[in-house]
Amino acid sequence: MENAVHEAFALAESAASVIRAAFPAQHDMLVVLGSGWAESVPALEAMSTSPVLTLDVADIPGFKKPTALGHGGALKSIRIGTTPVLLLTGRTHLYEGRGVHAVVHGVRTAFALGCRTVLLTNGAGCLRTDWNVGTPVVIRDHINLTAHSPLTGDNAPAPLAGRFVDLTDAYNESLRALVRTVEPGINEAVYLGLHGPHFETPAEIRMAATWGAEMVGMSTVLETIAARHLGMNVLALSLATNLASGLSGNKLSGEEVIQVGKDSSKKVGDLLGRVLIAFDQQKGTLAL
Ligand code: HPA
Repeated sequence: MENAVHEAFALAESAASVIRAAFPAQHDMLVVLGSGWAESVPALEAMSTSPVLTLDVADIPGFKKPTALGHGGALKSIRIGTTPVLLLTGRTHLYEGRGVHAVVHGVRTAFALGCRTVLLTNGAGCLRTDWNVGTPVVIRDHINLTAHSPLTGDNAPAPLAGRFVDLTDAYNESLRALVRTVEPGINEAVYLGLHGPHFETPAEIRMAATWGAEMVGMSTVLETIAARHLGMNVLALSLATNLASGLSGNKLSGEEVIQVGKDSSKKVGDLLGRVLIAFDQQKGTLAL
């Protein structure tokens, strides 16, 4: 094996063949459920127009049960209307120490299975004191401050694109417009992606605010880069689980993030369901 990038793509192919044997449908979309979103699984399962199929990620090459609080360890096949959807109930974060390729393995595996759209969700700190905690927002752009890229190393194997990936429109405008049709007035944010797992200092948040960051978290940006490298369309939604460090007078805790996620589960599950139905109904007319 030539290098880590080639190994990562080969591992995604082996994962895809295990999944193909268990889930016969050809899937169009991957949904990754982050902190605060995994509680939506029962609601999404209840909407499925085909029997729900489940794999334990531990049984799929390259995946491992996430160690992050509030993250599930399953891959599910559901169908929304006529759209087969892969649901990853938790993600690997860079701070878990498994490396950047493990973080984007779900995206690369979904691509190998034919998915061309990915919906990433996360729980994040909010820098906008005029927005409400417990409310979902659409990510319109990001700042990647993880100091990593999934494209580090040799070029990916042909015929995949080269490494100088354009991120001008990383978060697909027509998918963002679709969310605005189902949730008029939803806020759109610049998401700052950091390595974590510690929360930020108030000074870091003040700095981030001057850069134009509106949400801050420890995920999503690397998956988006990997997806755009593969030409996949990306939609990303954040749940504001807390005001960012120094903005509320409160200390931050992982437990608070989980609790706000639990309290918001009905709201985010309902939004996800409506977004997926709208995608199913309008996918033929979207500029993807
Ligand atoms: N900072 C970073 N990541 C987060 C936060 C935060 O305030 N809340 C949830 N994930």
